[in-house]
Amino acid sequence: MRSIYYFFALTFLVLFHGPVNSQSKNYEKQIDSLLSIMTLEEKVGQLNQLPLSWDTGPSSPEGDKLKDIREGLVGSVLNIKGASKTRGIQELAMQSRLKIPLLFGLDVIHGYKTTFPVPLAESTSWDLEAMENSARIAAIEAASAGIHWTFAPMVDIARDPRWGRIMEGAGEDHYLGSLIATARVKGFQGKGLGSLDALMACAKHFAAYGAAVGGRDYNSVDMSERMLREVYLAPFKAAAEAGCATYMNSFNDINGIPASASKFLQRTVLKGEWGFQGFVVSDWGSIGEMIPHGYAANAREAARLAIIAGSDMDMASMCYRKELTGLVKDGVVPVSVVDEAVRRILRMKFTLGLFDDPYRFCNEGLEASTLSKPEFRAAARDMARKSIVLIKNEAETLPLKTGKKIALIGPLGKSETDMLGGWSVWWDDNSDVVSQFEGLERRTGKENLLYAKGSSTRGDDRSGFDEAVNTAKEADLIILTIGEDRDMSGEAQSRSDIGIPGVQEELAEKIFALGKPVVVLLNAGRPLVFNRIAEKADAVLLTWFPGSEAGNAIADVVFGDYNPSAKLTTTFPRTVGQVPIYYNHFNTGRPSPDDGPSRNFRTGYTDLEQTPAYPFGYGLSYTKFDYSDLKISSDKMKEGEKVEYSFTVENSGKYAGEEIVQLYIRDRFASVVRPVKELRDFVKIKLEPGEKKTVTFVIDKEKLSFYNDELDRVTEPGFFDVMIGASSADIRLKAELELK
Ligand code: BGC
Repeated sequence: MRSIYYFFALTFLVLFHGPVNSQSKNYEKQIDSLLSIMTLEEKVGQLNQLPLSWDTGPSSPEGDKLKDIREGLVGSVLNIKGASKTRGIQELAMQSRLKIPLLFGLDVIHGYKTTFPVPLAESTSWDLEAMENSARIAAIEAASAGIHWTFAPMVDIARDPRWGRIMEGAGEDHYLGSLIATARVKGFQGKGLGSLDALMACAKHFAAYGAAVGGRDYNSVDMSERMLREVYLAPFKAAAEAGCATYMNSFNDINGIPASASKFLQRTVLKGEWGFQGFVVSDWGSIGEMIPHGYAANAREAARLAIIAGSDMDMASMCYRKELTGLVKDGVVPVSVVDEAVRRILRMKFTLGLFDDPYRFCNEGLEASTLSKPEFRAAARDMARKSIVLIKNEAETLPLKTGKKIALIGPLGKSETDMLGGWSVWWDDNSDVVSQFEGLERRTGKENLLYAKGSSTRGDDRSGFDEAVNTAKEADLIILTIGEDRDMSGEAQSRSDIGIPGVQEELAEKIFALGKPVVVLLNAGRPLVFNRIAEKADAVLLTWFPGSEAGNAIADVVFGDYNPSAKLTTTFPRTVGQVPIYYNHFNTGRPSPDDGPSRNFRTGYTDLEQTPAYPFGYGLSYTKFDYSDLKISSDKMKEGEKVEYSFTVENSGKYAGEEIVQLYIRDRFASVVRPVKELRDFVKIKLEPGEKKTVTFVIDKEKLSFYNDELDRVTEPGFFDVMIGASSADIRLKAELELK
């Protein structure tokens, strides 16, 4: 009887496989029939994600793990790449009874082979189209190499630069962060899942991972639901609205519950309120980590809590693989709960077209002709230029003129791998990365560029100082390249001191002492504190980790082929003691004046200015932009109306350039206290010298809304400040708006 049923079910399955798959197609009947023939073990297998390593193959020491794949006990594999490798592993899955294809997942965070700037750097471009394109190219390359699924975008709002993972996100603001989340999801998923150049995106880490207490990675989070919904969940909601295929939960506990066991996050909000149809993967081992969290007594308990809460796939902890079958057989977990999770995963496998052809992403010819195309490299160079922030430019030191003798000094000058930043895909050979030296040398010519390393990024070895000083003495101008190396930010890279590490500041002092012009390139994956450097340098460029085209992009900016336009998306503190510091804070009942330390029983520190070193939205240009002539369509707004703010921006300097014009509001009085400023719109415009453009911002009710104490999204009548400017601290035009 069973085998007849199996025959009909398989026939049904084959008949109903459509040739072309799009995300909107309905696969529920095929899934029903597949579920009806799966054993419980096979179902649990679909929920099991197995980590392999780059060199896994049937004869490698990991070969044993592959047995599970042949037996249909694995739903997805992570960390292998390449069309031939993924094909080899998929062939094993095709030996299993039901031949359900595997999903191949990988952290394609800011590029696959062509590496783009780290995500925080990209966010400072405020260029949504460019960021979408960067994700698009990453997807095209990775999909050609057999990958179905990227664990990106990371959409965690982060207000604490001690947290190393701040590098992977889009900064501190949820309005901008939501737009960037949308752009990245669209970029990864392209024309839709099922196309051969689309990856499933994964919004992570759900949720509030960026609010870890003390900026210590994996740490606890405790916050009001209002703050959670308004700030931390906003980019996740935007990702859901953009059709993000998957979510990854987070390592932290939130309000006492580990995220992997949070029914509230996964079932109530994500799958309930937001109607999410994809699936949730745990973070690496996070289900098993509920034991040290003190939430689950053992793996069985952890598996039960996670599946009930809506974690569909277990990344790496093996708790589902080992415990879930028993839990169902013992009647502890209803099989319907397992079925629902399997359904969500199968839905994505159908949508990707893997049941039509499990190898459709494993085409070595396509892979070879796709990676590192010249147009991808050109896009990476452009993205990198757009992500470099000009922090200081005394006496128009920059852009440099060619013909001068330049000394490039510092530990990162010739490094290729560091330029890729954290969470770049691992390659044996990074010689295709353009180092800073290489990029600059192409512009200066060999004879005009000297180099000395001076020191390492870490440690206290000063033995290179003399050579650095002697080399610098030979030059007319010094480019000092200092900061973090790529492994200092990213996962588990929280730092209590966010200054320039090692003896690099000492090296810098020696160079400054020569009295020659010094341009500093600041390499970083997080906001750093660098007050002495900023004070003494003639110019500072925050270059972050720019990716494969690092040296070319930096040379473009240094020599003025590109006029820097990036603006910070995180506040840079004056000292680590100011952290967390962010622009959209509440006012308190005793606000401090902006000028100087706190006094007369005011909020703030008695030994420090209240303002940050560099505010959110800050970034200079080689040119100057003037704002004038604000015209308002009305100073009152009634239900259903919109108000327009039109003004002129003029390039009054001598270089063509781009300006990121920002709109902030402040709700003066409300039923819950509101931030002193909230970004509500922005536009990036390009102006030739002397050119003027009219910019118009529109404010509607949505832009004035917030979550009230009952957690309803509302607007309340009253007065609002409308502020237009070049950064959150550089407001050029102001108006008052009354909402009736
Ligand atoms: C990280 C995730 C990542 C996963 C897979 C985890 O340790 O937190 O962001 O996607 O590993 O590599």
